[in-house]
Amino acid sequence: MTQDELKVMVGRAALDQVVPGSVVGVGTGSTVNCFIDALATMRERIIGAVSSSEKSSERLRAHSITVLDSNAIERIPVYIDGADEIDPRGHMIKGGGAALTREKIVADLADRFICIADVSKRVAVLGRFPLPVEVIPMAAAQISRRFVAMGGRPVLRAGVVTDNGGHLIDVHGLHITDPLTMESEINQWPGVVSVGIFARHRASLCLFGGPDGVETVSYATAS
Ligand code: 5RP
Repeated sequence: MTQDELKVMVGRAALDQVVPGSVVGVGTGSTVNCFIDALATMRERIIGAVSSSEKSSERLRAHSITVLDSNAIERIPVYIDGADEIDPRGHMIKGGGAALTREKIVADLADRFICIADVSKRVAVLGRFPLPVEVIPMAAAQISRRFVAMGGRPVLRAGVVTDNGGHLIDVHGLHITDPLTMESEINQWPGVVSVGIFARHRASLCLFGGPDGVETVSYATAS
């Protein structure tokens, strides 16, 4: 099976996680695009979606799925999104598609984060994928210096402006053994909008698409 076929398979499998009659939290990326296409088949059975990016909103609307304002939502049962890496405890690196800040905002509204990914995203320790960090442009150099001091190699993602008007730094060479602590620390730095470590908002469940089908992995509730 090709990687694209695996994405289609997990995108469809994620429909089982959607709670009928609810608002669904929808992430961003190529795997989520497959989920959105599948979600269209049950659009009459959901109230609508809260989306984590302009791109996903556009695709949802193209399927006539109602996109709701996140400020009008108090709680949603599930948020369904992909990941760039996921460790054995459900901690993730996200932001390869530049949508990490809105992804964290929608994940924060959800009771459960359901990750959908092909098996290649599974890692023992986070950090092989460069860590995306959204920053206020005037803080980019100072934040980059802090990453160098931490042993990372920060690279500004050229020409990319996020949906929020932020810039992105991709940090190479990190070995993230304590994602919760690192997420909290980076969040304190002035000018950081959000860091692509999803430890506080880690996955409750991941559907992994592999050559033998979809494997469902649930993660313990304590960090
Ligand atoms: C976007 C993300 C995506 O979830 C992540 O990049 C995975 O994308 P894909 O499904 O295309 O591999 O975090 O900001």
